[in-house]
Parts: sequence; structure tokens; C-alpha cells
Amino acid sequence: MQNLENHPMRKRTLYGRRQARPLKKRQQDLLENLLEKITFSLSKAEDCQLFQKNRVWMEIGFGGGEHLSQQALQHPDITFIGCEPFLNGVGSLLTQIDDDHLKNIWVHCDDACLLLSHIPPHSLEKVFLLFPDPWPKKRHYKRRFIQQATIKEIHRVLKPNGEWRIATDHVDYYEWVLSQFETPEAMALFKQQRQDVFERPVTEDWPETRYEQKAKLVGRKSAFFSFLAMQKSLVT
Ligand SMILES: C[S@@+](CC[C@H](N)C(=O)[O-])C[C@H]1O[C@@H](n2cnc3c(N)ncnc32)[C@H](O)[C@@H]1O
Repeated sequence: MQNLENHPMRKRTLYGRRQARPLKKRQQDLLENLLEKITFSLSKAEDCQLFQKNRVWMEIGFGGGEHLSQQALQHPDITFIGCEPFLNGVGSLLTQIDDDHLKNIWVHCDDACLLLSHIPPHSLEKVFLLFPDPWPKKRHYKRRFIQQATIKEIHRVLKPNGEWRIATDHVDYYEWVLSQFETPEAMALFKQQRQDVFERPVTEDWPETRYEQKAKLVGRKSAFFSFLAMQKSLVT
């Protein structure tokens, strides 16, 4: 059993906005009535049985929820956890959940790092991190989601041979991903599987997000990584 009290990621660290424009009436109603029923709390995360009984995929920073709701619609047999502290994004996802009568999404409306630290080892089959905030200024690099500590943490919660998908349209962040996964520690944990990361995967398998659409509109290329979690026996 992991010692959660001393876990290095067990504190809330959020940098972005939590709300921009006022929520629409329907979104406000759904936040009041639906969110409570599908909130994935920290104590729920510690329930090993939930992960033993279900195949679970998690999206970190789902934004408007376009990718998450599409995946949930296409994979009714999978349980999804979406993490997003931005309330307008949560409101937008709730609308899609309500419209499509989706029953397989849980929402954690807070910092994904905090949630991860409560999840038992080898619980998740897939993790998605799509177009994370690039934090382009050097003094803000420490705010970037991908760090040595998060690489270790995602490996801990993924099942052996689990997949971590990452996408970015930001050239510096692309370089950052390469450099963070090129350390000896990270190379022992993950192996990048796609031959050409600039080739767009089929949308049925990897639905578009709002940020990808924004990048396309201004002619920016995106990179799509798929990291495979190495089996424990192979990790020294
Ligand atoms: C640039 S947006 C991308 C949104 C969406 N993935 C897309 O591609 O359209 C990054 C999102 O990550 C969320 N985010 C930032 N830090 C986070 C954290 N620690 N845990 C969960 N989500 C986070 C932000 O609120 C924001 O909505």
C-alpha cells in the first residue's frame, strides 16, 4: 500500500483560470444538479475495487470535453474520468453528457495531479493529455504538466502496457516532451510508439479537440505522441 501522506504530488497546484465568461443557464443548472452525481472525489479514487472491476481511461485537462464525450460515446464499456478545473469547460462537457445520455463519465473538477496521487497503482488503461497549456515563458516552465515527477506518476497509475497519449501544437512544448521523455529515468518507463508523430491519427480513434481545431485554423501543425508504459519487470 502506498504511503499517501508523504506523496510528493499530494497538494493542489493550479495556474490557469477557473472561469472566464458567465455560465449559460443550462450549464449552471447542470453544474448544480448533474455534477454532484458524477463527481469523482479523492476518496472514490482510493477505491481499488472500482479499478479492478472496470476498464478506466482518464483525460487530463479536457477543456470543452469534445474528445472525452466522443470517446465515451464510442466506448460504452469503458469508464472515463475527466479532470478539468475550468468551470466553463466542465459546463460544456455536462451539456454533452446530458444530450447524449452518457453514463460512463466521472468528472474531477480540480487539479489532476492531486487526483493522481490518490489513485492506486496500475489502475488505468489509458491517459490523455491533449494540448496542455504550453507556458511559453522560461520562468513558467515549472508550471508545465509534463515534468519528471508527473511522468513517474502517470507510469505508476497506468497498467503495464497502458498508453499515455499526448498532443501539442506548440513547437517549444513539442521539444519539451522529447527532452522530458529522453532522460534515462523516463526512457526506462515509457516508449514512444508512433513512427511519425506529425501524422494525424484517424479521428474515430483520436477525436479532435477545440485546441486542435484552433491550431488547424491558423495553419499550425500538431504532434501526436503515444507512449507505452513499460512492464514493471522491464523497469530497473
Ligand atoms: C490549452 S487547454 C486544452 C484543452 C483541451 N484539452 C483541448 O485540447 O481543447 C488546457 C486545459 O488544461 C486544463 N488544466 C491545466 N492544468 C490542469 C491540471 N493541473 N489538472 C487538470 N486540468 C488542467 C486547463 O484548465 C485547460 O482547460
